[in-house]
Amino acid sequence: MVTNDIRYIGVNDHQLDLFEGQYIVPEGMAYNSYVILDEKIAVMDTIEVHFTDEWLGKLAKELNGRRPDYLIVQHMEPDHSASIKAFLEAYPDTTVVATAKAFTMMGNFYRGLDLGEKKIVAANGATLELGSHTLTFLHAPMVHWPEVMMTYDSKDKVLFSADAFGKFGALDAEPEIEDDDPYGWACEARRYYFGIVGKYGMQVQAVLKKTAALDIGIICPLHGPVLKEDLPYYFNLYDTWSAYRAETKGVVIAYTSVYGNTKKAVEYLADKLREKGCDVVEATDLARDDIAEAVEDAFRHDRLVLATTTYNNDIFPFMNHFIEDLVERGFKDRSVGLIENGSWAPNAAKNMKAKMEGLKGISWLDTTVTILSSLSDENYAQLDQMAEELMK
Ligand code: FEO
Repeated sequence: MVTNDIRYIGVNDHQLDLFEGQYIVPEGMAYNSYVILDEKIAVMDTIEVHFTDEWLGKLAKELNGRRPDYLIVQHMEPDHSASIKAFLEAYPDTTVVATAKAFTMMGNFYRGLDLGEKKIVAANGATLELGSHTLTFLHAPMVHWPEVMMTYDSKDKVLFSADAFGKFGALDAEPEIEDDDPYGWACEARRYYFGIVGKYGMQVQAVLKKTAALDIGIICPLHGPVLKEDLPYYFNLYDTWSAYRAETKGVVIAYTSVYGNTKKAVEYLADKLREKGCDVVEATDLARDDIAEAVEDAFRHDRLVLATTTYNNDIFPFMNHFIEDLVERGFKDRSVGLIENGSWAPNAAKNMKAKMEGLKGISWLDTTVTILSSLSDENYAQLDQMAEELMK
């Protein structure tokens, strides 16, 4: 139960291998859905296709013999919209409420769906009366798709935030509480944010301005837990992330290493940084570790070192992928250093820099380390110098 009138009817998915076809979810995934029980009844979004029956069962239990009046579709991505048809077969008298763009997508995703007159196009700022609850719709384009809207319930002071404030992980998984993650939320919410919504910081900032004007006591996202306590904590993190500000002072060293020599340079640099008092040094092997985690780390910290091999006269593939992820998401305002390795024509540093050329506010370290196959005395001295620069 979220409040007396708002009931949770979401599900946990522990079968999923990759969320959205690319993100590992070792703790599973939650698809959230809610029902608001008033004189009129509104269901907030549907559910992923494999959980239709479970979800309809939960809904029927909460309805206790009543029938829903409205289905509010905040987001058309299939993890939330795939059960619209089944829902309307069960409750054909329901009116669907969504943005104009969502209705277009609904027709494209679910061919043959005929809503007839049973639809309300929700304009930005439009309201819907349920009885004692008044819902206000806030368009939130590109958080995470163009048709998205959020919904505010002024009676219970609830913001239904669509994908925003969501995280990876099922709700029955034990949250991992850390000193820097006191609610066991930030780590997987940050990976979710930068992976999925990270490109649209400007649009998230626009939505945060709209929500700042509301009196919000509870956030009901489409993934992850319902947030009821310490809401400024979550809003501040979303503000930091969407403004592309570094959250923590720390150095991320993202690397690939074919024969272990580039890795040796990374380990030497990491040790030097720790010796110099850098508390947070994250070294991540892009070929073996989760790249989405590396992307999250790069945005989280204020300094980044890229270390890779020259490969086919360009950059080693995993580094290429990583840099593309950063560029796509508008990585900016960070210090970046480069380490390259090559056995006959090293040019990875030049190519990495060229790929990141259009990024704003990148301050390149003066020291670039070029390794010819294995570390030379000169390389060690350059790594010392790079550590100095990173600690300035
Ligand atoms: Fe959870 Fe963008 O769908």
